Parts: sequence; structure tokens; C-alpha cells
Amino acid sequence: MQTDAIEQIKDKIDIVELVRQYVPGLKRAGKLYKACCPFHHEKTPSFTCSSEKGLYYCFGCQEGGNIFNFVMKMENLTFREALEKLAAMAGVELEPAKLLSAEEQRRATTRKVLDWARAYYHKNLLSRAGDHARTYVKSRNLTKETCEQFELGLSLGPGALVQAAKQAGYTEENLKDAGLCVQTERGLREYFRNRLMFPIWNPRGETVGFGGRILGEGEPKYLNSPETILFTKSHVLYGLNFAGPVIRKVDRAVLLEGYMDVIGCHQAGVAYTVAPLGTSLTEEHAKLLKRYTQNVVVLFDPDEAGLKAALRGALILTQAGLFVKVASLPDGLDPDEYIAKYGKESFENILNHAQELIAFATARQLARHTAPLSAQAKTNIVTELTQIIAQQPDGIVRREWVKYVAEALNIDEPLVQQRLAQTLRANTQSTRFAPAHKPGVVRADPTVSLPSAEEDLLAWILKSPQHTVLCAQLSAQDFSSPALWEIFQAIVKTHMQYPQADNLTEQTAQALPAQRNEIVKLALLPTPDDFDPARDIAACAAKLEQTGLQRQLQKLTQQMKSYGTGNVPPDVFQTYMQLQQKLKKYRG
Ligand code: CTP
Ligand code: MN
Repeated sequence: MQTDAIEQIKDKIDIVELVRQYVPGLKRAGKLYKACCPFHHEKTPSFTCSSEKGLYYCFGCQEGGNIFNFVMKMENLTFREALEKLAAMAGVELEPAKLLSAEEQRRATTRKVLDWARAYYHKNLLSRAGDHARTYVKSRNLTKETCEQFELGLSLGPGALVQAAKQAGYTEENLKDAGLCVQTERGLREYFRNRLMFPIWNPRGETVGFGGRILGEGEPKYLNSPETILFTKSHVLYGLNFAGPVIRKVDRAVLLEGYMDVIGCHQAGVAYTVAPLGTSLTEEHAKLLKRYTQNVVVLFDPDEAGLKAALRGALILTQAGLFVKVASLPDGLDPDEYIAKYGKESFENILNHAQELIAFATARQLARHTAPLSAQAKTNIVTELTQIIAQQPDGIVRREWVKYVAEALNIDEPLVQQRLAQTLRANTQSTRFAPAHKPGVVRADPTVSLPSAEEDLLAWILKSPQHTVLCAQLSAQDFSSPALWEIFQAIVKTHMQYPQADNLTEQTAQALPAQRNEIVKLALLPTPDDFDPARDIAACAAKLEQTGLQRQLQKLTQQMKSYGTGNVPPDVFQTYMQLQQKLKKYRG
């Protein structure tokens, strides 16, 4: 690692100046600087930046880091690329790139193979061997320009790709790494044969895989590359490399179902459209879209399967904090067919009349019951709908939705509100006690903006690590989440390892990269005006211990009850006495 160069660059580049180049609205607020976050859409600033610490953190989307993380995220760069860019800005010389690790080499080669294959397939389509495929493309209303833009291609019969690849200097291993071939009992076999090929790009425009459609009728209609080191199907949205800038500009994205739909819409001038690769929508898709807009329209097939998928997808996007609407097209037409037949304006008109998720879900429920609704039917419907409202993280929107449902079903609003409160309570309880709750990740609760006592303590020892001795009594039980305990341990350990370090936050984040965002957030939490590290840290540690003990005591009391009077095992009782003893000092 170029540790010296990295440190020099950090010294020379003021993070506030750097961020301001991308976020002109950055304004001083006390010791920190604030602005609306460049990584998600918001109206009130929750993005903060500290010159002194060289760190940024967004309380809205929980993204944070140093100058390198900022540029990587902002420009979609790898660490090395960000390093080179910032080194040039700072006028710091880098050592020439080290030899790539085996893993990096494999990635680089795979990239090259995929680039080569994209060009190879494309050339096939334009060659004599591609006559019938070009006719097919034409029959799907695609122009030559569209073919060029999306670099459509053609895979030929068995052996063709392997032979051409070998001539170009690639090995069988290379082809397998790229997901273009698979090893079978009868030897190496091409994954795609005689198919119309769609290169799949990541948002940076790098080819990561392919989709292949059968020419004409047959099964399977579409094939996607298998997953490789560069390709995770559920993380990709087809067309986003072209759509990204347009989505930012029009501040809305449309989710379609297929490759052809995306291409047809782009060709017709509706270029803010993307599609997943035949998989259902995931949290990753939502995160990806959020970098470009907060507004998404899900366009779906109006059959039962399509309705269900739309609802499921819309919920995932909603949970991620996106504002989702749903729409469908008449006449059983796919988007590419519709837009070719009726034109851009008519298509966009349908998008503009897309339904809010709650209206869509309500209509769907109403359609399942006969009017007039019985009391029983109303109860059932409200139960279903509050489940959906509960997924909406925005409190203001939640209220609107409650109002909508109350009006649509002609029920008093407070009753719906009450049912929602029950649902929310039941949901948090089931997640709080769910053993499968991801232990490694701190889940930010968007409704709680004040730091907990635990977070205060961690923030303070990051600032005054020499006072960690005052927390010696703390153990895992005193923290409400394993992740916070993990961060506590990492800070203590890092401080012991580098007692003189002036960048404890970064060292800790490096020691525990999975919690980088949370650690950076802690480092940027403001301290009270009259902050007295020794006094405040000791008091906070005591408070945590007390809460921890009470929590344990409560659990133990429950347990003892379940044994019944006289049947409590002696060791359980002993623990109980010990806890009481320890708690004594807190009982004035
Ligand atoms: N899909 C897939 N595998 C299949 C069928 C579909 O991966 N066997 C995915 C593809 O990404 C496809 C999308 O699901 O683009 C939608 O499928 P479908 O509606 O069946 O196809 P269309 O997009 O209408 O394809 P076309 O218009 O070419 O018939
Ligand atoms: Mn179609």
C-alpha cells in the first residue's frame, strides 16, 4: 500500500473543498459543513462533512468515509482510480501500480474477454452469417442505430466462439471465468448458441455479462450469463448505463420487465427506463436506483402474476425509501409494442397517470370483494393494507396513506391509525426478537434521530480514547446490539495497537470495514458544549451498565417465572442475586 502517498494526499486535500466541487451548496454549520446529500434525493440537508477530521457522513442514507470513499462513490471509481485522481489533484507522486493480485488479474482478464466477446458477437450480427438475425431484429422494429447503441450481437453454432477466442489468444479457463463456456462431460461447451445477444453493462458502461434470446420461438426464450466474479444478476439493471443521466435529469425512473422493452423505449425517446434481468426486484436494485432518483414507476403485466410481482417489487422499493407508483398498459401489449404502436406521448401519458402504491393496493383489495363491503371484509382489507402502510418509512406519507384507506373504505381514520400502530408494534417485536436479524450490521432506525447512550459513548471514546479505561466494566450484555459491541471492541483494540494515532476513526474503520459508515457517523456526532471526557464517559458507561443489568434481570425474572415457584435451579437463582447485588450501587 502507498501509505505515505495516501497520508500526503489526505493532508493536502481539504475534504470540504473537494466535496464543494461536487456539492456547491455546502454550507458551514458550526464546526461542520452541511448540504443536501449528493447520494440520495432530499430537501433538508443531512450530509455533513468535517474539515478537521477529513470525513463525511450522511444521516439520511448512512453513507460516510474519507476523500477516497467520496470520489469512489461519486464517480463510480475503484480505489486505485480514486487514488490516481486525487494524487494528481494534490500533486503527489504515486509509486507505479503494484503487480496486480491474482484476483485482480482474473478480473482484469475477464473484463477483456467480455469486451472481446461483445465485439465478436456484434460482428457476427453484421456479417453474412447474421442475415436471418438481422431480419429478426428488423421484425422487432429496431433500427440500425439502436442495434449499434445496444451493441446487439449474434452467437453462432457450436465451437464458433471457442475457436475465435483461441485465435484471439484467450484460454478455455478465460472463457469459463467470463461465463461464456461451461465444462461438461463431453468437453467445453458454449453457453450461448444461435441466439440474439444483448451485452449487459454495469452503470460504468463495462460489459459484465450477456443475455441471449432465441431467434423466433423456442425454449428457453432468454438465457443470462451465469454469475461470475464480475456479474451478480440481482445487482444489475439493464439499460442503466444509458438511462442513468436521463433519470437524474427527469428525476424519475421506470422499471420494465425485459431487454426488448428497454431497448424499444429508449429507441422511442423514453430513455429513463431500465429492467431487472428476469429476476424479481431486490434491495440492491433499489439502492442502485436511489443514486439517481427517488421516484420510480413500476410498469407491469396486468395479469395476476404481473400484479403480484409489481406489488412485491413496489414494496421492496418503498422500504428502501423510494416513492413508487405502478402502472400497466392496455390491450396486453408489452412496452416495446405499445410505444411502437401508439408513440411516446401516449406512453408517457400512462406513466403520468400511474397509481400510488396505496391506491393500487386498495383497488386490488376492493376488486377481490363484492360491494357493499361487510364489516368482516373491511377488517380483513384494513389488515392487509396496514401491512403495506407499515413498510413506508416516511411518516408523512404514512399519514397520507392512512387517510386514503380510511376514505376509500369509509372507516374512521383513527381506527385505521390504531390498526397501523398495532401492525407496527407487532413488526418491530418480531424483528427485535428474530434470531436471524443480521448481527453484523447496524440497522439505522429512520424514526430515531437522536444518538442512543451507546452511540454517545462510542463517539466520545473515539474522541478521547485515553479514557476507555473508564469503560472497563462493560461487556457484550451492556450493548443492545452485537454490532455496537463489536465497534466498541474495535475502537479499544485499535487504540491499544496505535496509541499515538491521530486517525483512530480511520484505523478503526479499516479494522472493521463492514461498519465503516457507522464508525464515521459516530466520529462526526457533535459533543455537548461542556463536554468533559472523564466525567461524561464514566457517567455514560455507568448508565450502560445499569441498563444492561436491568435488561438481564428482566430476562432472568421471566425465566424464573417459567420454572415456577420452588423449581428455580440454584445457579439461576445465584445469578439473579449477583445481578441484584451489582444493581445495588445504582439504587441510590
Ligand atoms: N426472461 C428470462 N428467461 C426466460 C424468459 C424471460 O430471463 N426464459 C427475462 C428476460 O430478462 C426478459 C424478461 O424476463 O427480458 C421478460 O420476459 P418475457 O416477458 O417473457 O419476454 P419479453 O421481454 O416480452 O421478450 P420478447 O419481447 O423478446 O418476447
Ligand atoms: Mn415482449
